Amino acid sequence: MSAVLEPRAVVAATPSDAEVRNQYFDKLFTNPALMWLGQNTNHHPLHPAVKKALHDAIDDESFHAYAPPLGMEALRSAIVEDLGVPGQSAVVTDGAVAALALACRAFCKPGGGFVTTDPGWKWPLQFAAKAGSVVTEIPIYGPEYGFKLSAEALAASTDENTAVIYLVDPNNPLGTTYTEDEIRAFANRAREIGAILIHDCTYRDFADEHALASRFYPEGTVTIVSFSKWLGLAGLRLGALVTAPSLLENILPHSQAPLGASVLAQRAALAGLVVKDEWMKDIIGKQRENQRMIVDAFAKLPGFEVPVLPSQANFIVVECTGAGITPEALVSALGEHDIMVRQGTYHTPRFGHRFVKISTTVPKEWAQALCDVLPQAVERAKTLPATAALF
Ligand SMILES: Cc1ncc(COP(=O)(O)O)c(C=O)c1O
Repeated sequence: MSAVLEPRAVVAATPSDAEVRNQYFDKLFTNPALMWLGQNTNHHPLHPAVKKALHDAIDDESFHAYAPPLGMEALRSAIVEDLGVPGQSAVVTDGAVAALALACRAFCKPGGGFVTTDPGWKWPLQFAAKAGSVVTEIPIYGPEYGFKLSAEALAASTDENTAVIYLVDPNNPLGTTYTEDEIRAFANRAREIGAILIHDCTYRDFADEHALASRFYPEGTVTIVSFSKWLGLAGLRLGALVTAPSLLENILPHSQAPLGASVLAQRAALAGLVVKDEWMKDIIGKQRENQRMIVDAFAKLPGFEVPVLPSQANFIVVECTGAGITPEALVSALGEHDIMVRQGTYHTPRFGHRFVKISTTVPKEWAQALCDVLPQAVERAKTLPATAALF
């Protein structure tokens, strides 16, 4: 069963909504004590080689010039090589979100179908709705779905009118990923109906195994990558889309970045790709340990459940309905200890009342702080309003 939904409210319906939202994030951002366990960002100190690249880029002041419009050639090649998709082309963007916005501008059309999962990542749905797409969200939350999309569900919710299939893999917030057979089936379905498959691989580097749809459907897949999560460059803003040169012809006229992306971020990203294997071995080890520690802390309290374990991304979903508190109350209670976790409704109005999401690419001390205050925060949550103005 899928659902065609009314387009959700776009980013901020009014200027005053936008101001409230901005003040909310500014309050978080200007709190130096804040422990960021809510946005899947990576808060480990940078790899020395990446830090050096950033210092070098500041010292030589190369940033007075604009970077090449599609990205530095060395970085574009390194991204394609890292994915292992020779013959494809990368376009470097201000974060994966700009790559997604570009792909949506290029392929979403009025009345055309945009099919994705629920839960998933909400912004591309809004880009699609803005473009006049008919947005369909296929429910995947629950053991009955195995917390993931099936080929059958995708087939039942797509047809020749489907312009775009948007697959977040590993899924944010669930942390599930797909086998090669599943990805092949999704790719075959997209080809069969002539849809573009946007494969959002923002979290692929945290998965034990990951298959790229572009291997099976190179001519119709747009792969999205990010440097925010694995490398820790969220605030520097760097991502990319990678696709077949033939598709690039349809995409590039929609670019809104003729002056390229950040020089500093590109220099850091390039250095990061060089040390990626060594870096990720360390990061994955640490974040899986944080996953275990946090899961153990919740297991000591009645009523909480962790449906997907180990998560194949750098976060976990914790269900709180059985504990008699709402996600919003728990987020607010942890916020009183300078700990930010995310309420499920950020991802999904349909299932979001069931869970919070907790990010795990953080220093061990932050994960420990969460575990230490958890019993107290849960008691406090029981006394707080069930709803709160969170973003
Ligand atoms: C699935 C997904 N795609 C894209 C992004 C955006 O990443 P970036 O920081 O590179 O814009 C996020 C960020 O949370 C995400 O969860």
